[in-house]
Amino acid sequence: MFFKAPPHRNLFTERLRLRAPSFLDVSDVFEFCSDPASSKYADWYPHNFKSDTRDFLAWLKRKSSDKSYTWVIEHREDEKVIGTISIVDADYSGKIFTVGYTLSKIYQHNGYATEALKALTDYLFGELFAERVQAKVIPENEASCRLLERVGFKKEGTLKKGAFCKTECVDVFIYALTNKLKS
Ligand SMILES: CC(C)(COP(=O)(O)OP(=O)(O)OC[C@H]1O[C@@H](n2cnc3c(N)ncnc32)[C@H](O)[C@@H]1OP(=O)(O)O)[C@@H](O)C(=O)NCCC(=O)NCCS
Repeated sequence: MFFKAPPHRNLFTERLRLRAPSFLDVSDVFEFCSDPASSKYADWYPHNFKSDTRDFLAWLKRKSSDKSYTWVIEHREDEKVIGTISIVDADYSGKIFTVGYTLSKIYQHNGYATEALKALTDYLFGELFAERVQAKVIPENEASCRLLERVGFKKEGTLKKGAFCKTECVDVFIYALTNKLKS
């Protein structure tokens, strides 16, 4: 039922396990992917049916590689899947990563996304020798801006028409964390 050996390893924090998605996660993932708040600032639409979530998980599996990869965020205590965190893109050098994340609304404001994003950046810098980890954020998405700033990302400016959001290209803030040892 689990995806075949992922190109990236599972990551552990005090309260969370970041692991490969499984088709057994459909119900948990549907819970937050069917919530319009989860995709308000994203390029995807809320899932209407569990079959949409199953298709989504199958799509994640197909595009899973060292360049693009999604972990589900599992709460270690009860094994509930409460979100996802992704390498949205890795450039050809393997040194520059773009990341993204979604956390179920009912689990927000507990520091889980902070914990997950710290684990991902530690992994990217510490084990994959990243030199830059970046994220694009729609300016209205204040929770995401705060999260990035809490983890140490710096806002570098605005990318005009820098991301596609459902029907159009929109301006986005670009945030980045760089490997200080290399600069
Ligand atoms: C972006 C998103 C993941 C942020 O979630 P979040 O719950 O705000 O982030 P965290 O889980 O790290 O929780 C941090 C909040 O909990 C509070 N908190 C409580 N306990 C905490 C702890 N132990 N550690 C850190 N923060 C804690 C913080 O003060 C913070 O609140 P604040 O932002 O009001 O100051 C969430 O809003 C989301 O999933 N949005 C929809 C999808 C989305 O927009 N993704 C990003 C696209 S760019």
